[in-house]
Amino acid sequence: MYNVRKIVDDLYWVGGSDHRLELFENIHPIPDGVSYNAYVLLDEKTVLFDTVDWSICRQFLENLEHVLNGRDLDYVIINHMEPDHAASMEEVLLRYPNAKVISTEKSIMMMYQFGFNVEGRTETVAEGDSRCFGKHTIAFVDAQMVHWPEAMVSYDTSNGVLFSADAFGSFKALDGKLFADEVNFDRDWIDEARRYLTNIVGKYGPEVMHLIKKAGTLDIKVICPLHGPVWRKPEDIQYILGKYIKWATYEPEEKGVLIVYASMYGNTESAAQVLATKLVEKGMTNVRVYDVSKTHVSYLVSEAFKYSHIVFASVTYNLQIYPVMKEFLEHLAMLNLQNRICGIIENGSWAPQSGSLIREFLDDEMKQMSIINSELSIISSLQEKDQRDMDLFVDSLLDTMNEE
Ligand code: FEO
Repeated sequence: MYNVRKIVDDLYWVGGSDHRLELFENIHPIPDGVSYNAYVLLDEKTVLFDTVDWSICRQFLENLEHVLNGRDLDYVIINHMEPDHAASMEEVLLRYPNAKVISTEKSIMMMYQFGFNVEGRTETVAEGDSRCFGKHTIAFVDAQMVHWPEAMVSYDTSNGVLFSADAFGSFKALDGKLFADEVNFDRDWIDEARRYLTNIVGKYGPEVMHLIKKAGTLDIKVICPLHGPVWRKPEDIQYILGKYIKWATYEPEEKGVLIVYASMYGNTESAAQVLATKLVEKGMTNVRVYDVSKTHVSYLVSEAFKYSHIVFASVTYNLQIYPVMKEFLEHLAMLNLQNRICGIIENGSWAPQSGSLIREFLDDEMKQMSIINSELSIISSLQEKDQRDMDLFVDSLLDTMNEE
């Protein structure tokens, strides 16, 4: 059964949601599912904007057929060639043999790389080009590295609809609620939107900002991303733009302390909890504590982008940083996180050195990670004699907050 929604006059959503997939990109858990959005413009010509992941191809094809209502498909605009959006393209081309594909040069090259037969059916566009399909003229805007090098976004100059590819998207299935104003986004969606953006596109903050600056020159009325809800209210568009600017410039959203601990037998965990308690007692209640071994790194990355301060508390393991903590640090570095204030707590029963190794990593592998002077070194377990060092650590963290 088809399942479509109208966006504005002449434009329909023909995507779908998937609750079956466990891991997005086979790495990030998506317990609330994900949507793959595709859109159809009915003008003098019919135009499909992107396709969908193979997993929901059947639903998508039914949707497409229903919206076309007997008309042929004239064009497929591919804004992003990653298979979570383009996997169903060849099936569309088989069913609609007159359809032409419009995309960037790199994207068309990738179509061949992925083994799609598009010979004689492509039209290459680049930044500044546009195509008129009747009442609607679509302008193409380069969006390299948001999130692949071939990406572009498309802008309907007649009604201000921006087809934003991966930008302004989110994890989570839509479950009928297509528009951001049909959900409580700030309560129910923002964490998954942040987790999506920071883990998928976090590395490419400068490129996201470049796109946002170009978007600032357009009169955008509606944003149609490839995942998550469609944005149509001016205040909602401003809201998500504001969030994206924070994430893309690596500015924390909130003053607060993220404590991530690596603990083998509960002693480092205990120190992390003592730290949290002391912070709260001194008035810093915006504290989150996570066990690095029990929390998927994508959630930790998202929280690291959110908060101003990060405390890494790690046991020493084979004279190294605990491997799962090391993996977390490597994800942060890979995703280009920067500009955070950090505290380090190390633990070790005979040769504690995870602290110096974490410091080295933050200094050498990451940018603008300032480390508070006070460090806490625990021998096996936090003792009464360590209270003073813990208090100094807490004060040192809080001092940096008061300085801001
Ligand atoms: Fe949703 Fe970069 O693909």
